[in-house]
Amino acid sequence: MILPLPVILTFLFGTVIFVLNLLFQHFFLVDKHDHKGLPNGSMGLPLIGETYGFCTPHKSFSIGNFLQQRCSRYGKIFKSNIFGAPTIVSCDLDLNTFVLQNEEKLFQSSYPKPVKNILGKHSLLLLTDFDRHKRFRSIEMSLINKFKCTPHFFSHLDKLCVSLMESWRGNQFILFFKQAKQFSFSMMLMSVLEMEPGEPLGLELLKDFLKFMKGFVSIPINLPWTHHGKAIKARSRIASTLKQIIKEKDSFNEIMLLKGKLSDVEKVSIVLDLLFAGFETTSGLLSLLVYFLAKSSQALQNLKDEHIALRRKKKEGEPLNWEDYKQMEFTMMVINETLRCGNLVKFVLREAIKGVDFKGYHIPAGWKILPIFSSMHLDPSLHENPSKFNPWRWTDPATSKKVTPFGGGLRMCPGSELAKLEAAFFLHHLVLNYRWTVKEDEYPMLCPYMDFPKGLLIALEAETTDL
Ligand code: HEM
Repeated sequence: MILPLPVILTFLFGTVIFVLNLLFQHFFLVDKHDHKGLPNGSMGLPLIGETYGFCTPHKSFSIGNFLQQRCSRYGKIFKSNIFGAPTIVSCDLDLNTFVLQNEEKLFQSSYPKPVKNILGKHSLLLLTDFDRHKRFRSIEMSLINKFKCTPHFFSHLDKLCVSLMESWRGNQFILFFKQAKQFSFSMMLMSVLEMEPGEPLGLELLKDFLKFMKGFVSIPINLPWTHHGKAIKARSRIASTLKQIIKEKDSFNEIMLLKGKLSDVEKVSIVLDLLFAGFETTSGLLSLLVYFLAKSSQALQNLKDEHIALRRKKKEGEPLNWEDYKQMEFTMMVINETLRCGNLVKFVLREAIKGVDFKGYHIPAGWKILPIFSSMHLDPSLHENPSKFNPWRWTDPATSKKVTPFGGGLRMCPGSELAKLEAAFFLHHLVLNYRWTVKEDEYPMLCPYMDFPKGLLIALEAETTDL
């Protein structure tokens, strides 16, 4: 009997994958004795493991089928093979906290090679040389804090929000996700590089940045026509534009000088880091706020009341300031709840530096560990009715200990306060100026990064607030 060619090819391909996987398992999982006490789980298909299942898109206020099934079959801690490496997946609050708190001692950041190719070897997110990480982090913190509390920054941020609201006048519908990206990119350029919105170099950067971000979540094949290849090219264009911009920024260079000598490549990498880490996250937060508030009329009303009360204390057109921000109690609850339900960052990636024992399980040296934030945020044993958007749950101070949208430990997000500040200012102007609805079939999805695949189309109506 002669078998058809596709069957023979499939058989040969399967055999090659099987043998490669055996070799991979043999060489990668070197010390088999170190594997006693591993949690249950499945290593999935040869080579690709369970990466496909893990990355399958799902609504961001749910944990998705993959984690749901594994957790009910194996428990909150299980083994798997994800992004080409043996991995412990943790949906457990205690283990996740333990991992974050033991950065440098027991665990280190460990992102796949294609991510390194795009972000560059100096990126803070990837640095595992601890002294370098500390130094670069301190520079990035200084840059973030440089303006954050100055009246100059507040008035610029306020102006940017006002002009966004003005640009919507007369529009019935807007695709909010795209608008949020442009807006948050302008904010990032303003806060990190003191660039005015609309500067031509800024627009050029945004175009390249969108390509860069697309490549970040694409299949890592570096060819001229692939998203990954285009992203690497976009990165080098971004680098040369940034080099040009940085040269003229005195206050940026003053901070750099204070922190010791840095090469141009390192300086560019620092700015790129901030733009990369702050741009899509902040625009994602604004979009999630618009989404969840459209579904919760009570929360929206409370929010409006808070901002109307604030506005009544101010002169017409007077920009918000730090004192106003500190009074936005309910706004903070809304932002925190949005971060819990919306899960902008589903997980982080770490690697065990040495063998670690925790809760009766063993994590072998060299294995990856994925602390999953979304499953903690949506765990019914930690939060009552977890998929419900309920800002009032934040009146209980214990809630903040069970929610980690900004990570924790030595790598805790240095931009968390800036992101909240920007979101609060944006909300102030939004709720005083507009009412809006979101179409039924719009959902925030984790793919695995948060996305609104339909662009978050909102129907707008001007609000007439009696002040
Ligand atoms: C809602 C908005 C944001 C969220 C949810 C968020 C989330 C996170 C998370 C989870 C991490 C930890 C990554 C890890 O442990 O591997 C992180 C790190 C980081 N974030 Fe954010 N972030 C946000 C906004 C920002 C902004 C606005 C900036 C900059 C201005 C920023 C800059 C950074 C940097 C530089 C790191 C790396 C820190 C390090 O490795 O030491 N982030 N962020």
